[in-house]
Amino acid sequence: MLATKQDFYRIQKLPPYVFSVINEMKAKARARQMDVVDLGMGNPDGATPRRVVTKLIEAARNPRNHRYSQSKGIPHLRDEIVKRYRANYGVELDADSEAIVTIGAKDALAHLLFATVGPGDVVVSPNPAYPIHQYGVIMSEGEACMLPMPDSATFLNRLEHLYKTGKPPRMILISFPHNPTTTCVDLDFFRDIVRLAAHHGTYIIHDFAYADIGFDGYQAPSILQVDGAKEIAVEIFSLSKSYNMAGWRVGFCLGNQEMIAALARIKSYLDYGVFQPVQIASIIALRECEEDTKKICATYQRRRDVLVSGLNRAGWPVESPRGSMFLWAPVPEKYLEGGSLEFAKILMDKALVAVSPGIGFGPLGEGYVRFAFVENEQRIRQATRAIQHFLKQA
Ligand SMILES: Cc1ncc(COP(=O)(O)O)c(C=O)c1O
Repeated sequence: MLATKQDFYRIQKLPPYVFSVINEMKAKARARQMDVVDLGMGNPDGATPRRVVTKLIEAARNPRNHRYSQSKGIPHLRDEIVKRYRANYGVELDADSEAIVTIGAKDALAHLLFATVGPGDVVVSPNPAYPIHQYGVIMSEGEACMLPMPDSATFLNRLEHLYKTGKPPRMILISFPHNPTTTCVDLDFFRDIVRLAAHHGTYIIHDFAYADIGFDGYQAPSILQVDGAKEIAVEIFSLSKSYNMAGWRVGFCLGNQEMIAALARIKSYLDYGVFQPVQIASIIALRECEEDTKKICATYQRRRDVLVSGLNRAGWPVESPRGSMFLWAPVPEKYLEGGSLEFAKILMDKALVAVSPGIGFGPLGEGYVRFAFVENEQRIRQATRAIQHFLKQA
């Protein structure tokens, strides 16, 4: 007899995406011509810099770029990310052994975990978190150990406690500015965590997807700025948010040679690299588009301000995030008991605003919803007015 869906070994471990419930409601409302303000998914709405698109078109016209590319990425692109790290963070990397191109950060995370984690390996990460941080470990048959992160210092304390009392982790998976909680850290936090991990022989993966999205002058540090970090750590950088290139699927894994080699090995079996014209155009993004990155960040900051002041005015007290493209808002008291998914459904139904329920980011995300700054200021104003109206009536 053929296996049913439930019988597939790995699929059994992956629950359906919680976010699909809200997505379905949104699709149904839109089918009824309802105007939904969609602040659910962190999918950038802005255009990729024009120069990058122009280069893509030019490169796509050249038949030499239609062949299989290299799974670790073309050398010029790896050179360019190394230059950016030198210029922005003062970090020296070897383009050949300490940098690899990936199919976005998600590919890097999933396949790096697949390559380096095995049965029984403990991988510690804060929770709530971007779902692949937890499920990438589960798919690799490791043990996902989730620590709460009301703030970065508490997370660090809990980690220290774990080393004293629990099974020592093989790996720590962190990400700052953090999705969904928006927690930001300074270089001292990275110094502490690198020291701790190095002392216990633990690897670190730092997902730096929001590297360039810091507000009010905050610039997120790279973990590779810490002396000796390369001995134990890799950083994952992505073009998705920094250059509005989410659909292009380009990212990097940088730093520790052993982990890069492991990822390169597994990718050599799995893929032939990103479409070469996309890699060539990505060189232009990294080389010529720093100003575009600043503009993208400024746009998110303005949207943040509109959302935060609008919600506070609506009687929903929220704090202003320092980085990422999200607002992590506590579910209002009155709706807490029903849970974040129920509240997200109510917001959709009564205010025509789509948000992500906190529970979708793991058990410790309950009690919150996440707003993404992916509609323009006017639409965000429309959303907060509708929320204000709904909260008043309720
Ligand atoms: C923390 C985090 N890591 C990685 C990603 C995915 O990045 P990419 O588009 O490069 O796969 C996201 C996307 O929202 C994210 O929030």
